[in-house]
Amino acid sequence: MRTTISHEELDSLVEPTRLHKRLYTDPDIFELEMERIWGQAWIFIGHESQVPKVGDYFATNITHKAPVIMVRDKEGKVHVLHNRCAHKGAKLVENRQGNVRGAFRCPYHGWSYKHDGTLIKIPNEAGYEGTGFDINDTCNNMQPVAQMGSYRGFVFATLSADAPDLKTWLGGAIDCLDNLCDRSPEGEVEVAGGVLRYEHECNWKFILENLNDTMHPMVVHQSVVQAAKDYIDSLPASATRERSEAEIILPFGSSYENFEESGITGFPYGHHYDGGKTSIHAKYTVMPAYHEAMVKAYGEERTRDIYSFNTHNTLYYPSLTIKTAVQNIRVVRPIAVDRFVVETWSFRLKGAPEEMLQRTLLYSRLINSSAGMVGPDDLEVYRRTQEGLESTASDWVEFHRQYGKDEQQADRVVGGGTGDLDMRTQYKAWKAYMSGEVFA
Ligand code: FES
Ligand SMILES: [Fe+2]
Repeated sequence: MRTTISHEELDSLVEPTRLHKRLYTDPDIFELEMERIWGQAWIFIGHESQVPKVGDYFATNITHKAPVIMVRDKEGKVHVLHNRCAHKGAKLVENRQGNVRGAFRCPYHGWSYKHDGTLIKIPNEAGYEGTGFDINDTCNNMQPVAQMGSYRGFVFATLSADAPDLKTWLGGAIDCLDNLCDRSPEGEVEVAGGVLRYEHECNWKFILENLNDTMHPMVVHQSVVQAAKDYIDSLPASATRERSEAEIILPFGSSYENFEESGITGFPYGHHYDGGKTSIHAKYTVMPAYHEAMVKAYGEERTRDIYSFNTHNTLYYPSLTIKTAVQNIRVVRPIAVDRFVVETWSFRLKGAPEEMLQRTLLYSRLINSSAGMVGPDDLEVYRRTQEGLESTASDWVEFHRQYGKDEQQADRVVGGGTGDLDMRTQYKAWKAYMSGEVFA
């Protein structure tokens, strides 16, 4: 793409403890991020359970200019293909999801393709005879993405042939995907309960920065936590269900000390999580029927191990954030420098009682929904920040907290839960991707 931004200029925008506001406001920077971060990293596409039957597809996009389709073929194999006809470029499917029984058929001139993208048929094919056109040339197929990979049903794809394999790229942060799945007595999860999909009028990086920004909940969510406390105090002793529902909100008012204690862990390529030994989800009551199913499947000791790895938010930079203890994920999709879409998907733990899914869905409605109690607070500060950054008062935002105190270990960096280790982790990756040498 055409850009006048040099390496030196890009480099100067990210200092060890400060970021230039152009990262959030400059459309040229946004286009470069799409090309160099989103166009190179492994991007979360969807979960295999979204396409359970032959011909089922789910359409999404990798960058704002790269529509793709996840589809299951006759052999049960899942593919990720570019959503582009090889003839004149029309998108093969427009709906987000559906089923194509025999083949994809282009809505323009009717070229049809197998589920794996192979071109099968061109209407009135005789016209191509003697023209040098070869129907068997793979360039006439729907094109596969450069690489795709699936880990425990979570499907990722990358437009870069140079990216390391998915497992290597996930690194130590893979433990959180394992923990989410291990919380199922069968070791498997499946998408359930629909999706919450919202467009936010701000830069896509705000949500990633906010995930493990533990200096904000007690301020931003103060009023809703107080309202939840007042509501709980007003309940009669018999209202156990109402109490347990409202209690989901209370951890958002946790103290600085509690958040500091949960810690933050960072990995290569920008991934990080907060919690581990403990998190704001650590005090949920374990439902007896669920515990029984877990112990039957894993034994008492392994079950305790699974519960005790308690993280809050894990980010697989830049597109996927998961909550292992409540089995929901959020998927980020940038649209423009000041717009992105976030989707929340919930998961059923296979072999667990239905109440577990109900709790997950309730959590989503209360916390992630734009009609909920917590998410709208965050959205309001994102909007104010996007507007505030247009001010000429300063060109910089800062992230000094606990700078110089992070502890480098073999494959990860660990630090206090109220530090800016999460920022340092993701902006180190930002620089590496933007330099074009992240996989060198
Ligand atoms: S653009 Fe698809 S068949 Fe012509
Ligand atoms: Fe928040």
